[in-house]
Amino acid sequence: MRYSLITATLASGVFAARPFLNEPDTGIVDALGASFPVGSLPDIKNMNYTYYRNGAGGEWSYRNNLEVYNRYRFKPRMMVDITKVQDSLPTSILGHNFSAPFYISPCARADYAHPEAEINLVKGAAAAGILYIPSLYSHLPMETIAENAAENQTLFAQLYIPNNDTQTQTYFDRAEKAGYKALVWTIDSPGDASRQRAARFDVGSSNVELTRNTWEDLEKYRSMTKLPIILKGVQTAAVAKAAIEHKVPAIVLSNHGGRNLDGSPSALEVAIEMYQEDPTMFQKIEVYADGGVRYGSDALRLLALGVRAVGIGRPFMYANAFGQPGVEKVAQILKGELIGDSANLGVPDLKKIDAEVVNWTPNGWYS
Ligand SMILES: Cc1cc2nc3c(=O)[nH]c(=O)nc-3n(C[C@H](O)[C@H](O)[C@H](O)COP(=O)(O)O)c2cc1C
Repeated sequence: MRYSLITATLASGVFAARPFLNEPDTGIVDALGASFPVGSLPDIKNMNYTYYRNGAGGEWSYRNNLEVYNRYRFKPRMMVDITKVQDSLPTSILGHNFSAPFYISPCARADYAHPEAEINLVKGAAAAGILYIPSLYSHLPMETIAENAAENQTLFAQLYIPNNDTQTQTYFDRAEKAGYKALVWTIDSPGDASRQRAARFDVGSSNVELTRNTWEDLEKYRSMTKLPIILKGVQTAAVAKAAIEHKVPAIVLSNHGGRNLDGSPSALEVAIEMYQEDPTMFQKIEVYADGGVRYGSDALRLLALGVRAVGIGRPFMYANAFGQPGVEKVAQILKGELIGDSANLGVPDLKKIDAEVVNWTPNGWYS
């Protein structure tokens, strides 16, 4: 009895300090409206949900990705005319035009949420005017996804590049032939990941071999394709700097949604490190970032440092349980939040947002 009382007291202390880690009750279910039945959960099997939700190890990086944004409070500027801020939502990513500075990050196995799998994502992205980067480990072949694209829709192809040049050349040629406009080489997974939550259902990581990813390999790959190669999974300012030196056109700051190396930094922490070291890095290379972006206000902190576009993974994968309308709804919510949040922050033009709108001293219990 005494033991359980102590345990209960300790537990309530923990909850008081960390009121939620994952899903706050925001009333979003009511807000979503008629096409999203209130009171019923999406039909995703426990195993499939676990594959999406999973993080590596103790899931500290997964949770840190979600929590990190709120460590940095805004400094809202009042008395500013923000009434045209929505005009600044469209942007270009590697020279291709899109309706907003966010995109669908590459995530494997869209069939775990919906039988139409990646088709909902490619069509949803077209309807929303945003970039979609299909994963190499999509359920559907990259050709089928591309065939379902709208006319003139831009897609980039995510690849894990094996240490087998014949296989690599095949990937490059397939992506080029199918009309992809860039290759996104994921470099944050040279080893297997410990995914214990997923191991229960045997739905862990698919890259189980040790893979060599080096600058020499990059030079070689460049001679094997006409497509620009973007590096996904940059986790230090030093690697970002080296990417600039190697004339890489764009990088994605990412720890793979906390799914690979537990303890790896969030994209926001890497962006801060880059900014502190040399803010001009963001002008020398296009910088995208993903991990834990759930609200417009999360994205604004990344954009404030010079990030050009943010990627969203799990929210689109979960939303796909509702098919294409679910995918479009996520994009619509995020666009609305970007407009409303930048207005409330006193930013009249998203392209001109600067680091001064955030207090970069971490606040409160988290520091
Ligand atoms: C279910 C799932 C599968 C993923 N598969 C891949 C993949 O095949 N290739 C890749 O580069 N990243 C993959 N990622 C990582 C995402 O591209 C992205 O970095 C991450 O999801 C962003 O974090 P967020 O889910 O918190 O938005 C995957 C992520 C999830 C959730």
